[in-house]
Amino acid sequence: MSTLSIFAPAKVNLFLAITGRRADGYHDLVSVVAPVEFGDTLRVEAKVAGGGADRFELGCEDAAVPVDETNLVLKAARAFVAATGWRGGAKFSLEKHIPMGAGLGGGSSDAVAALRGLNGLAGGLLTAARLAEVAATLGSDCPLFLAGGPVVMRGRGERVERLPTEVAARLRGRRVLLFKPGFGISTPWAFGSMAATPKSYIPVTEAETKLATWMNTPGATAEELLCNNMAEVAGAKFIALPTLLAWLRERFGVAAQMSGSGSACFAVLADDAPVAAIIAAIREAWGLSAFVWETRIA
Ligand code: C5P
Repeated sequence: MSTLSIFAPAKVNLFLAITGRRADGYHDLVSVVAPVEFGDTLRVEAKVAGGGADRFELGCEDAAVPVDETNLVLKAARAFVAATGWRGGAKFSLEKHIPMGAGLGGGSSDAVAALRGLNGLAGGLLTAARLAEVAATLGSDCPLFLAGGPVVMRGRGERVERLPTEVAARLRGRRVLLFKPGFGISTPWAFGSMAATPKSYIPVTEAETKLATWMNTPGATAEELLCNNMAEVAGAKFIALPTLLAWLRERFGVAAQMSGSGSACFAVLADDAPVAAIIAAIREAWGLSAFVWETRIA
């Protein structure tokens, strides 16, 4: 029986403008998102299965990761079957590294890895366009992971456009330090807080103008792109975030911000920037339970 091993990268939102609440309860956004070289690995092993509940199994060595039907990997498997009528089964083993409740897209990326793995086992039943549609039903942050590089994401996240090669090249390979405090932030809570504070929205024309200016400025850097209007509402409650970010900017002059709805943050570093002092400052502020990982934009 064949086994596929699929890398499920984490993502960072370099630019995130939540522009307003929609009639369906979701939010419209404009975001530049990029996968990084750090992530989870999902192994997908074909298994002979009846049509029963045991058709798909999920295992994970990290006991904190739910392996029941609430896990997006198993939801992805059900969605794949619904979309294709595939009759096979699979055993998933998840090697989890991406922290949860972090705004790093871990669960969404795992779900996309599951879809890609099953599509591989099934001989490519879904076209790229259908894969993207099924991915969008699983979560707003899923479709971006099918692009394999930096994208602009619009709508609630389902409209994904690859950045032009020369623009993506300003981001690709850049060194980033990911860091997350011991607590996570619930995505629905963060969006709910935005809705309760409408002045925190960035008008869509302003967001698009800002993004277009960056894209059309040759040589504009990743540092110059950073923006996240969820950081203010998150920071009003979780004050450890803005406190440390301000300190890192002031003390080390680095460009740093929260990713997505948090609580993970990241700093964009010059290749020759000494990172040890920055890591020490993070540990001093957030303690040893903080997650810290150095990686690069993929
Ligand atoms: O799409 P996903 O299930 O990941 O979204 C989780 C929650 O985050 C949604 O239920 C919604 O409350 C909020 N959300 C939103 N607008 C988005 C994405 C997520 O309001 N564009």
